[in-house]
Amino acid sequence: MTEPSSPTAPTAARVFSGVQPSGALHLGNYLGALVKFVALQHEMECLYCVVDLHAITAWQDPKNLAAQTREIAAAYFAAGVDPAKAIVFAQSAVPEHAELAWIFNCVARLGWLDRMTQFKEKTGKHKERASVGLYTYPVLQAADILLYKATHVPVGEDQKQHLELTRDIAAKFNHDFDAPGFFPLTEALIEGPGARIMSLRDATAKMSKSDPSDQSRINLTDDADTIANKIRRAKTDPLPLPDTVEELKGRPEADNLLGIYAALAGETKAAVLARFAGQGFGQAFKPALADLLVERLSPVSAEMRRLMADPAEIDRILAAGAERARALAAPILAETKRIVGFTGG
Ligand code: AMP
Ligand code: TRP
Repeated sequence: MTEPSSPTAPTAARVFSGVQPSGALHLGNYLGALVKFVALQHEMECLYCVVDLHAITAWQDPKNLAAQTREIAAAYFAAGVDPAKAIVFAQSAVPEHAELAWIFNCVARLGWLDRMTQFKEKTGKHKERASVGLYTYPVLQAADILLYKATHVPVGEDQKQHLELTRDIAAKFNHDFDAPGFFPLTEALIEGPGARIMSLRDATAKMSKSDPSDQSRINLTDDADTIANKIRRAKTDPLPLPDTVEELKGRPEADNLLGIYAALAGETKAAVLARFAGQGFGQAFKPALADLLVERLSPVSAEMRRLMADPAEIDRILAAGAERARALAAPILAETKRIVGFTGG
């Protein structure tokens, strides 16, 4: 195997992202994450991880976890991630993630984690019953990213705060250990109309796996009838589609459906409005949106089903990805441990 001359030197541009194997994927994951993963693999070196260590911060039935992990990998591939280009692997297969997370647990401050809104949203009033892992979840996320000195992280808007924490951890590590520039200040790639897809039932809440109502989301595996039904029943206001994007302000349901259309079609909201302005939502827009969703998602779900029929092949691809990931991670972790002052290799 040929080694680069300095494996721990700053990376030119490297992408890292992950999705938790904690349930079925939905349109928000597809537009907020997967579509960007596919585009970036042609531009930069990319690592796409199935973050099973993160998933177990909330209870996962061991009987289902392996299948869920394979399903996320299958979704990556079905969406167009090419395992010959991008490195695709399961987080638990690269133990360096957990090792670096421990070091970062000793860098991050309690006050920083106390400010994490996702932890507060997930636990509500029952914080004392949450796992300790859920609390330090963003520290593990920072370790995922910095273990590869990743410079860019494509995510949905809900991950913005975790990416800011990642930068804070990198900066504090570099400062405390007098290692300027050792870890990069990673940039989140969030922008675009797919960054925050909202619930179809309540446009003030984001589309989410954990919403008890299945009507609130489009799952990647929904069939054409289910998609058409969900869009027909999606909440809107009684007004017709406006002429301008400005007029979508204060109309969150209308704005969300327009955003979904624009993201799927690769158009601006203004361009979409130009075709549908003045009409009621049910007239032409909702049927067109349902058709577009079916056109884009049904090949993805068909390919997912095909891939899931051969779990051994998915495991093989993930194992090969883990090996490539470890080859990048090991020298960076070794250097980190040397900087910290550990004597072990
Ligand atoms: P998760 O399912 O929480 O592991 O999220 C996987 C990826 O999907 C992350 O990059 C999230 O930011 C993104 N994501 C999740 N929900 C949404 C949403 N409603 N809109 C846009 N992106 C989302
Ligand atoms: N926290 C992310 C989410 O729920 C998943 C994740 C874990 C991640 N590690 C990451 C995303 C590293 C980007 C980079 O969506």
